Amino acid sequence: MATIVEARPTTTYATPALPKADSCILVIFGATGDLTRRKLIPALYDLACVGCMSPHFDIVGVGRKPLSDEQFRESLEEAAAHSKDARNFTSEGWRDFAKRIRYFAADTDDPQTYPRLTKYLGEMRRTECSPNLLFYLATPTSLFDEIIRGLGAAGLNRNEKGWTRVVVEKPFCHDLASARKLNEVLLSVFHEEDVYRIDHYLGKETVQNILVFRFGNLLFEPIWNRNYIDYVEITAAETLGVEQRAGFYEETGALRDMVANHMLQLLSLTAMEPPLAFDASSVRGKKVEVLSAIKPMTVEEAAERTVRGQYGPGQIDGKSVPGYSEEPGVSPKSKTETYAAAQFFIDNWRWAGVPFFVRTGKRLSRNLTEIAVHFKRTPQTLFAHESDNEVERNVIAFRIQPNEGISVDFAAKRPGTEMHTANVQLNFRYREAFGTKSPVAYETLLLDVMRGDATLFTRRDEAEAEWRLITPVEDAWSELPAPKFSNYAAGSAGPEASDLLIARHGWSWRSLDPLA
Ligand code: BG6
Repeated sequence: MATIVEARPTTTYATPALPKADSCILVIFGATGDLTRRKLIPALYDLACVGCMSPHFDIVGVGRKPLSDEQFRESLEEAAAHSKDARNFTSEGWRDFAKRIRYFAADTDDPQTYPRLTKYLGEMRRTECSPNLLFYLATPTSLFDEIIRGLGAAGLNRNEKGWTRVVVEKPFCHDLASARKLNEVLLSVFHEEDVYRIDHYLGKETVQNILVFRFGNLLFEPIWNRNYIDYVEITAAETLGVEQRAGFYEETGALRDMVANHMLQLLSLTAMEPPLAFDASSVRGKKVEVLSAIKPMTVEEAAERTVRGQYGPGQIDGKSVPGYSEEPGVSPKSKTETYAAAQFFIDNWRWAGVPFFVRTGKRLSRNLTEIAVHFKRTPQTLFAHESDNEVERNVIAFRIQPNEGISVDFAAKRPGTEMHTANVQLNFRYREAFGTKSPVAYETLLLDVMRGDATLFTRRDEAEAEWRLITPVEDAWSELPAPKFSNYAAGSAGPEASDLLIARHGWSWRSLDPLA
C-alpha cells in the first residue's frame, strides 16, 4: 500500500450538551464479581465525573459475601483506581462517588432475599432516593431465572412511583431452547420495553459508526450490495488467552462467546436495510430481518462452512505461553474451541450469493476487530499490464479496535510520465480526526438504559434469531468427528483449515500482522 491520506472533520461543530441520566437506584446482582469491578463501576464513576448522573443516583450491590458497605466500597475503589476505563479517577472524586454505594449481602436462591430487598429499597425510597429501579443481572446466566422470578414474586417488577428496568448480561443462555425459556420467564415478570439485553459491542463508537457511514452518506449505499461487493470479512482476533475464566469458557467456547452475539451483531449492522428512523423499533427490526434471511446450516453445510480450533503452546509478544489444554482449570482433554470461523449467506435481494466470512479466536498474533468489505474488480483491466502495476480491489474496512477508524483502499496513478498505478489507502482515524477519546462501551450503554433508550440493546426476537443460527452449528459439531486439537499455535493467525475455508473461493483472510 503506497500512501496514507488522513481524513479530518470538514465542518466545525459545537460540543453537544451532555445527556443526563434519569435518577435511579441501580441494584447490581453479582456485585462482587469481575464485571462489576472491572466494567460497571469504572463506567458509572466516569459518567458521574463528566456530570451525566443525577444527584439522586444510588448503587446497591447484592452479593453472597458478608461485607459491610465500607468493605464493599474499598474493594471497588482498588479496582476503579487500576482500571483504564475509569479515566477520570482521583481519590477525591472517588470519595464523593462512593457515598452513593451500599452493599446488601444475600443469597439469590434464598426466597427471603427478595422480600428483604423490597423492604430495604422501600426504606431508601422513603428518603431522598429515586423511585426508579434498575436491576442489573451481572451473575452467571444460571442464576438469571431465580433472580427474575424472585423479583417478580416480591413485587419488585411493579412500580407505581417511577420506572423499573432490568439489564441482562451476556451470554444470553447457551442455545435456542434456553434463550426462549429465559425470554418467557423475563416476559412473565417484566415488559419487553423494560428489558435491556446487553451486547457491549453495540456500545462501541466504531460499531455505531457503521450506521452513520452507511446511512449518513449517499456515496456508499448505492454500491452496498451483491452487484458491487464480492465478499465481507469480519474478524475479532485477541492475543489474550482464557485468563481466569476457564470455568465459564470450558462450557462456552468461541462460537457461543463471540459469534452468537458480537459477531452476528457486526454482520447485521453491515448488512441491514436502512431503518425508518434511528430508534429501537426500526433499527432492531431491520437487524432481525437480516438474521432471519440467513438459513440455519445443516450438518453437511456446517462441515463445509465452519471451522473450529484450539490453541496450543506458542509465543505472544516474544513470551512463551501454554496451550489452552494446559491452562489452569481446563481439562487436558478439552474439546472446547478457542477459535471459530464460519461462512454465512444472507438470502435476500441485496446479498444473495455474497459470502460473509467471520472468524474469532483467542491467543492470535494480534488484537484486531474489523469488518472488511471487498469490492469486485473493475469490468475491464485497463492498467494492470505489468506485474508491478496490479490493481487491487477496493476494500472498505471498519476498524472497530484498536486504532478505531475507517480505511478505503483504491488505485491511483503513480507520479511519472508512464501510466503506472499504485494502491493507496484513505485513512480516517477517530482519535486523530476528532482529538478526543471515545467513551467506553459500558458508559454509553449504561447511560442509554438510564435514559430509556433500547436502540443499542438486543430485542427478544433478535436474541432468538442469533441462536437459531448458532445452535445448529453446535449440534453439527457434536455430531461431526472433532478435529484434532490443538490445531493452531498461540501467536499464529489461526488454524490452517480456516485459511482453506476462504481460499476455496480464491481469497485469503486479511493479515493480522500490523506491518502487512
Ligand atoms: C466478551 C467475551 O463478551 O468479549 C470475551 O466474553 C472477549 O471472551 C470480550 O474477550 C472481547 O471484548 P472486547 O471489548 O475486548 O473486544
